[in-house]
Amino acid sequence: MQKTIEATTEAMEMVEGLKSRNKRIFSKFFYDSEGSRIFQQIMGMPEYYLTACEAEIFETHKRNIGAMFCSECFSVDLVELGAGDGQKTRILIEDLISENVNFRYIPIDISEQAVTHLVDDMQGRFPNLTIETRIGDYFHMLEDLSRDYPNRKVVMFLGSNLGNFNYHQSITFLGQLQKALGNDDMLFIGLDLKKDPEVIRKAYNDPHGYTREFNLNLLRRMNRELGADFNPDHFTHEPCYDSGTGAAKSYLVSTRDQEVYFSGIDETISFRQWETIYTERSQKYDMEMIREMAEASGFHMAKNFFDDRKFFVNSLWKKQ
Ligand code: AVJ
Repeated sequence: MQKTIEATTEAMEMVEGLKSRNKRIFSKFFYDSEGSRIFQQIMGMPEYYLTACEAEIFETHKRNIGAMFCSECFSVDLVELGAGDGQKTRILIEDLISENVNFRYIPIDISEQAVTHLVDDMQGRFPNLTIETRIGDYFHMLEDLSRDYPNRKVVMFLGSNLGNFNYHQSITFLGQLQKALGNDDMLFIGLDLKKDPEVIRKAYNDPHGYTREFNLNLLRRMNRELGADFNPDHFTHEPCYDSGTGAAKSYLVSTRDQEVYFSGIDETISFRQWETIYTERSQKYDMEMIREMAEASGFHMAKNFFDDRKFFVNSLWKKQ
């Protein structure tokens, strides 16, 4: 058994979600090194349009975006929440370097492995770039933010990562972020927009099976780290999208009555046939909803950048 989850509180959080009446696993648990690797495959497939759209926005508007980050400001701390492999961010970083902007790059991610790769890659490409890293979940680094970074902070929250939260959680999180920011700081947020539901369904129910593997990895992870005996063949992956609410959701469904033993913590959890584990929300937005979230959390929208098809938006927010 690997013991990557040394913090038993983390392990307990994972199992607690499975003990509740509506079973669920929090989506932060997707990103162990295996899950981060599968997510890279997801980002590389054409059906997962989000990545390409955001890259298109950066390529098209990088000079405008960079200029707004740095307007009337001597130096910038570019803080990226959930940086992952940082591929798209590279486009913006390249631009800032070529414009001789004085800035540091501060990627934060829950996956230590992802951050290590990211730093090696970035430092190789840009030897003079100052990089500082943080490993942890979003809520834990909010406190560090206000304390440790004296320059103008531009917090980047890209890839529609906010979509994992429901509306209420989003407002709570954004409100805490707003409080951690100074008056001159900014939030640059990337959000996936409502579009043809078939396009969205294909992105989360892909023909390559990567999304399915991404979900089943949650069970495999518990086998690896908690000594559980999940048989992934006894669960199916069920993605669904409701264009009324804009919520894409993912479930793992138990195809039979079964018991799973967690030898690491000596606990047994039973699953009824067709009982579900809710694993993820990937919210899709319209501009009204985005404006509402910005205002409800103490921001105002300063500028929006779109791709050609208006599939995705990168929105720059300032404090009200
Ligand atoms: C990284 C949370 C933005 O919800 O689209 C991709 C994760 N899940 N395919 C998303 C994901 C299934 C992704 N986020």
